[in-house]
Amino acid sequence: MAPPLSKGAVADLEWEELEATVATCRLCGLCDGRKQTVFGCGARDADWMIVGEAPGAEEDRLGEPFVGAAGKLLDAMLRAVGLAREQVFIANTLKCRPPGNRDPHVDELAACRPYLERQIALVRPRLLLVVGRIAAQALLASDEPIGRLRGRVHELPGLGVPLVPTYHPAYLLRSPDQKRRAWQDLLLARSLTVGDGDGGPR
Ligand code: URA
Repeated sequence: MAPPLSKGAVADLEWEELEATVATCRLCGLCDGRKQTVFGCGARDADWMIVGEAPGAEEDRLGEPFVGAAGKLLDAMLRAVGLAREQVFIANTLKCRPPGNRDPHVDELAACRPYLERQIALVRPRLLLVVGRIAAQALLASDEPIGRLRGRVHELPGLGVPLVPTYHPAYLLRSPDQKRRAWQDLLLARSLTVGDGDGGPR
């Protein structure tokens, strides 16, 4: 298997080259099981960037993140704070589906990370809303549970972007009693981006 990409290898790529590089990526074993890569979608100059875990079966089939049941809830969560799906940029820590939706492996996260970091650098969001334990722990290099990471603002190491972790919508579908806390997180996130340029182009 190819070694993980160094940050420098993608750090200068613009959107089209980055998307093409991801589409043909063979840096980890997940490429063997994918139907296609799931690059990310939405506004490339968004104020809010959403980061999830990895594509599931529907995302692998359609090539777009968060299109299944969890995606419908994510869309509703965004609408609740006045944002349409098209106004944000949505990506995952992994661009390929792990078999059977198992948790990503450390080497897979490491191989894929430069792609996500380049996406964040290109979008230059005012805020990262990071959904779920896997993505939050990976981005923050933490092993704290999501219940302790959520509810406060972090800063993305290296890129200096405010980061608000919250529960994954798939978890909220199973545990609707936690929606109240997710709503608090959304309000916290919104409080960081109200003011000039909120929701609109920069
Ligand atoms: N769950 C995720 O974390 N990402 C997706 O794209 C779909 C489901």
